[in-house]
Amino acid sequence: MTTAAVLTAAGSGRRLGAAGPKALVPLAGEPLVLHAARRLAASGVVVSVVVTVPPGGEAPFASVLPAELDGVPVRLVAGGASRQASVAAGLAVLGPDVDVVLVHDAARALAGPGLVRAVEAEVRAGRAAVVPGLPVTDTLKRVGRPQVAPGTTTVHGAAGGPVPGPAGAPPAWPVLATVDRGELRAVQTPQGFDRALLDRAHAAAAHLAGDEATALTDDAGLVEALGAEVWVVPGEERAMKVTTAHDLAVARLLLDEGDQ
Ligand code: CTP
Ligand code: MG
Repeated sequence: MTTAAVLTAAGSGRRLGAAGPKALVPLAGEPLVLHAARRLAASGVVVSVVVTVPPGGEAPFASVLPAELDGVPVRLVAGGASRQASVAAGLAVLGPDVDVVLVHDAARALAGPGLVRAVEAEVRAGRAAVVPGLPVTDTLKRVGRPQVAPGTTTVHGAAGGPVPGPAGAPPAWPVLATVDRGELRAVQTPQGFDRALLDRAHAAAAHLAGDEATALTDDAGLVEALGAEVWVVPGEERAMKVTTAHDLAVARLLLDEGDQ
């Protein structure tokens, strides 16, 4: 009965716009991936951390990540073209003794050891898929297809999003409904799973590629697709994801406030 962590760090960080991979971007002098790995190890509940790194780009990761943190071995594996493929690559190298897996994003560098323990404990207590989540504070609307001002032509961008029509008019989306935010949660990582269930979920989704794979942004979604139950436990503000330069500034602020 052992718990291992797969720490995803193989993304490029396009939206952050740094020179290299996002996971190597420093926060208070330490790369995001090291912050995340340290906190996983400090939880005391994981026996190993497998870090997915950009294929062919292992060297800088090997130089910032020690082979062991708090006595917990840290291994690097080459990730894949999508986050899902990277997690699958991490799962593939876990030993047969591992029966619980925590999947965590290096981009959520400040998720604390207490959150890691809480998620792991819930899985050990018998819930086979557990994710941390926070209530949503914005007012949320469901919208329809984007439209441009009358007299111009609707044009859709490559990613399916709107771009201005020929006259340069900004797009607008018709509101279909106001969503009851009371029943929504913004989910985070680490996400914890019974290992056999997560293996099955990844095997069932392994054929997905391109946009379909990109659209699956978390592992719980794969488990849901199997029809299995997923549970939410309280998340943490500091488990926020660093996606943009603004998020990095927020993470810096959280550290300055003493949120170690
Ligand atoms: N990730 C990964 N392998 C990929 C893509 C993403 O391991 N092929 C990891 C990232 O390193 C990150 C986590 O998945 O820790 C969440 O992804 P995201 O925040 O989208 O990071 P990036 O894909 O790097 O950023 P962007 O989408 O802006 O390029
Ligand atoms: Mg991404």
